[in-house]
Amino acid sequence: MKAHLCHITYQLLLHRRPCSVVNSSAIITILGEFIVMASTIVNMPLNVGTIKGLDCLSHGKFNANALPIRPSVSSLPHRRMLVVKASTNDGPIKKLGMSDAECEAAVVAGNIPEAPPVPPIPASPAGTPVGTSVDIRSRPRRNRRSPVLRSAFQETSLSPANFVYPLFIHEGEEDTPIGAMPGCYRLGWRHGLVEEVAKARDVGVNSIVLFPKVPDALKSPTGDEAYNDNGLVPRTIRLLKDKYPDLIIYTDVALDPYSSDGHDGIVREDGVILNDETVHQLCKQAVSQARAGADVVSPSDMMDGRVGAIRSALDAEGFQHVSIMSYTAKYASSFYGPFREALDSNPRFGDKKTYQMNPANYREALIELRADESEGADILLVKPGLPYLDVVRLLRDNSPLPIAAYQVSGEYSMIKAGGVLKMIDEQKVMLESLMCLRRAGADIILTYFALQAARCLCGEK
Ligand code: PBG
Repeated sequence: MKAHLCHITYQLLLHRRPCSVVNSSAIITILGEFIVMASTIVNMPLNVGTIKGLDCLSHGKFNANALPIRPSVSSLPHRRMLVVKASTNDGPIKKLGMSDAECEAAVVAGNIPEAPPVPPIPASPAGTPVGTSVDIRSRPRRNRRSPVLRSAFQETSLSPANFVYPLFIHEGEEDTPIGAMPGCYRLGWRHGLVEEVAKARDVGVNSIVLFPKVPDALKSPTGDEAYNDNGLVPRTIRLLKDKYPDLIIYTDVALDPYSSDGHDGIVREDGVILNDETVHQLCKQAVSQARAGADVVSPSDMMDGRVGAIRSALDAEGFQHVSIMSYTAKYASSFYGPFREALDSNPRFGDKKTYQMNPANYREALIELRADESEGADILLVKPGLPYLDVVRLLRDNSPLPIAAYQVSGEYSMIKAGGVLKMIDEQKVMLESLMCLRRAGADIILTYFALQAARCLCGEK
């Protein structure tokens, strides 16, 4: 709350873009009277300080205690200071020593004081057609003509608080690069992961989702390792919660990392994916993750009825407070390729079309939405992201629940590859793609760009 108010104050006073994390120091003039504060303002709900270095002693009438925000020592490490001045200082303005009445009388008598002239109209290049103005009243460009106007009318904002950072973990000590996802690693759960989480928190990303790479020897047709309380995921959750109690940990609920068949469910000998038997396993998996301290369990398996069953299983074990983010509209997409390489979780045979949705379908997402809502989902997710913006908008317009979009591995890798080949500006395309997901209606975005994008939004890169 403190940070939020502070953020609003900052934006009102500085007319900055609605970029929610402002990693800078600002000199703010309040009511034009006093330069009152040099502050570091970060719009993060957790663990962060709000105003740093507020010195109210030497600033006349300004009373820090009268503000809804109090000076506090930032718990963030000290950052580079960038001073943004809200106004230019041209020195004191000379006064003539006249009263208001004398000033008015002077103007009435025709002694109008001097002011700068109206600037001349800038010249157009020679050859520009003249007298060609079109008779139109509505000129939408008027509202776009300056950065101040553009930011005043910006409808959508992007903040590190919107990101959930997917992280791949493994049993190893080293971080292993993932070939198809430049910049992503299978992180050692004890070392690399903890460091990556610290980096993300440092720029306002305080939500992660874990994906484990499980040793082949622990995989089985029924994926029982998925609910081993001492398995990689529960162990990692306990470690992270011990270090960062306020970190929000999402978990993936599906059997594929644990299945010797590479499917999200149990496979019958004729290749049929068993629904209810799989749901039974998923409930155990979700409870095991909740027991370890997961905040949000996220069934990505697309079995029917799993949200309701998981809700009942969690509640029966006393985990009423644990949320469910349902992969409501998860499509059988080829954009998941790099992810399956990352986890070595390609289906050993067949595809996932009997449980994931047909990319050609739109209305069908409403059927999934109704089921998930009635079964008690807390967040509805659409996956992939950018090619499915219409589905994001569909869910947004048909449910009051928060909507998540998953910018999946293939989307990430395409932007990375385009950037490496210098075909596109990676950073700009990254930020635009994320903004577009927000514009389509996503509250949160699962993205492998979370750290990189948050750093950009903080002005670090
Ligand atoms: C599987 C799962 C997948 C992803 C997240 N969870 C792959 C799949 O369904 O085959 C894909 C994520 C990505 O591509 O980034 N439960």
